[in-house]
Amino acid sequence: MLIRHATMDDLEEIAEVERLCFPVSEAASLEEFRERLAVYADCFLLLFDDDRLVSFIDGMATDEADLRDEMYADASLHRPDGRWQMIFGLNTLPEYRRRGYAALLVRTFAENARKQGRLGVVLTCKEGLVAYYASLGFKDEGMSSSTHGDTAWHQMRRTFRPD
Ligand SMILES: CC(C)(COP(=O)(O)OP(=O)(O)OC[C@H]1O[C@@H](n2cnc3c(N)ncnc32)[C@H](O)[C@@H]1OP(=O)(O)O)[C@@H](O)C(=O)NCCC(=O)NCCS
Repeated sequence: MLIRHATMDDLEEIAEVERLCFPVSEAASLEEFRERLAVYADCFLLLFDDDRLVSFIDGMATDEADLRDEMYADASLHRPDGRWQMIFGLNTLPEYRRRGYAALLVRTFAENARKQGRLGVVLTCKEGLVAYYASLGFKDEGMSSSTHGDTAWHQMRRTFRPD
């Protein structure tokens, strides 16, 4: 197993994993990933089993404390020194689930953000994943303003304690 940051060469494989993990109304498109990778490839973590991409996490950094829908589609909102690290997507291919891969990516992503001096990590998720993210140290802040994919989302945050 290997975990590494993304490059533009990973574009098609990333979009394919996304396509297999999310319904069309929620999946980011290849073009959206192309823009994200052009601006913040260092804010992607990819997990490979042998040479196959099986799980990944991504999201921009921003000074805004709350995750807004516009952020998904507009990579120019990324701030390299932003105080908050957003999580836009977390995916594991169906046949590789329940092995702890996503949890490992969330922990590594958060640890990287902490080392970069950010205040914490923010995500939105459906009701069914609130308990999962709570087990990874995130606190539920209630319903988000997001209408992404026309469904209801909770915003959750893990704030780092100062060293
Ligand atoms: C949500 C998602 C990313 C989880 O991926 P994953 O790699 O299976 O995640 P994990 O293995 O860390 O944890 C999943 C479950 O497996 C359990 N698990 C972890 N390691 C395990 C192991 N070795 N054996 C058995 N179960 C295990 C976890 O405790 C967790 O259980 P829970 O669902 O009861 O909380 C994946 O299901 C997915 O891609 N879903 C579709 C896209 C999506 O909804 N993404 C989230 C957007 S907010």
